[in-house]
Amino acid sequence: MMDGRLEGRVALVTGSSRGIGATIARLFAAEGARVVVHGRDAARVEEVRQSIGALGVLADLTDFDQVESMRTAIETEVGPVDVLVANAGGSLTPPALLEDIPIDGWKKTVDANLTATFLTLRSFLPGMKKAGRGDIVTISSNAGRRPHPRSPIPYAAAKAGVQLITQDVALQAGPFGVRANGIAPETIPTDENKTLITADVQARLVEAHAVRRLGTPEDVARTALFLADREQSGWMTGVVLDLHGGTQI
Ligand SMILES: NC(=O)c1ccc[n+]([C@@H]2O[C@H](COP(=O)([O-])OP(=O)(O)OC[C@H]3O[C@@H](n4cnc5c(N)ncnc54)[C@H](OP(=O)(O)O)[C@@H]3O)[C@@H](O)[C@H]2O)c1
Repeated sequence: MMDGRLEGRVALVTGSSRGIGATIARLFAAEGARVVVHGRDAARVEEVRQSIGALGVLADLTDFDQVESMRTAIETEVGPVDVLVANAGGSLTPPALLEDIPIDGWKKTVDANLTATFLTLRSFLPGMKKAGRGDIVTISSNAGRRPHPRSPIPYAAAKAGVQLITQDVALQAGPFGVRANGIAPETIPTDENKTLITADVQARLVEAHAVRRLGTPEDVARTALFLADREQSGWMTGVVLDLHGGTQI
């Protein structure tokens, strides 16, 4: 246990079966939250759940029925969620010229990021508003801030949409005691990314960062903790923080 900054809170971190989400889940649990670990891969969800002793749930977030069943299961097992990190997502199609983007890749990527975030918020927001309390953190991407040849257009567009939904929810739900903020990280070498991004490319990326290092899952997790913690960020809502170490690309 660290400072107990999330003591007494029920926190759902979507996409916490691996990568950034798993790191956020571990930090939130260390800060006293009852963390719900989520993913589609049962074995990985169970692995993370065991290491932090929280509930594990499975759901494809592009399917609203599955999202609703997940919410019901969480409410039955641990109670209503009052900290929600909508982290699940990822790019399902590589960078390409617009005319070469597979239509299926567009749909899958928009679904996995924008639609999944929308459906998650659609399911959990009413309960938070009714309870008069909720702290939402969405995870978009620096790719959603500007066009870049390295960013797949469907991913960038979906993440830009996530940012706008976050700001809209902040406006709509603020009067009901619910905050919504987001994080827009640059490339984070998760275990998986380390295998996908060559050492050469990583070195070039480092040079593009003012702080001369890439971000880490822990950098994102600490920022998510700040945004979830009302003591620290209670007057912030509708803000999407750029987390990029001063990247100029
Ligand atoms: N890593 C980066 O460089 C970077 C930079 C900026 C933003 N981001 C964003 O940060 C978030 C986490 O990234 P990451 O690199 O940690 O991702 P990751 O390692 O690929 O993990 C993605 C997570 O999302 C879950 N997920 C994906 N699609 C889902 C769906 N349709 N329904 C339910 N769960 C789904 C996966 O679950 P299962 O594996 O269990 O199916 C997994 O837990 C993503 O939103 C990503 O776009 C990442």
